[in-house]
Amino acid sequence: MSDSWHTFCAMSEFPETGKAAAVVAGWYVLVAKTEDGLFAVNDRCTHQAALLSEGRVRRGAIMCPLHGARFEMATGRCLGGAYKDLRTFPVRVENDTIEVCVPGEAPSMEELPVAR
Ligand code: FES
Repeated sequence: MSDSWHTFCAMSEFPETGKAAAVVAGWYVLVAKTEDGLFAVNDRCTHQAALLSEGRVRRGAIMCPLHGARFEMATGRCLGGAYKDLRTFPVRVENDTIEVCVPGEAPSMEELPVAR
């Protein structure tokens, strides 16, 4: 199946904290606003599957709330390289709506967070 665009939330409802999480077509998606714009990544730390959306965004990176790994929102790259990089999703704003593009197939177990 091919990738497809889905509604994430209204831009006007995007939290002032600068990040929001939602399940989009089965994918756990974290959208965060950085100085360079909006970016979307898989909401699951590649170390031990924590929800990254419970962490803080600083200087363009999300910090895992469990053990502190940092991932660059724009690229999904694990800063310092200790763990695998995150999957990223294309994100756009259309008519005040944030949309993300996710794969047509369901995420593998390695891409699902442990708790919700
Ligand atoms: S679970 Fe994220 S750094 Fe360990």
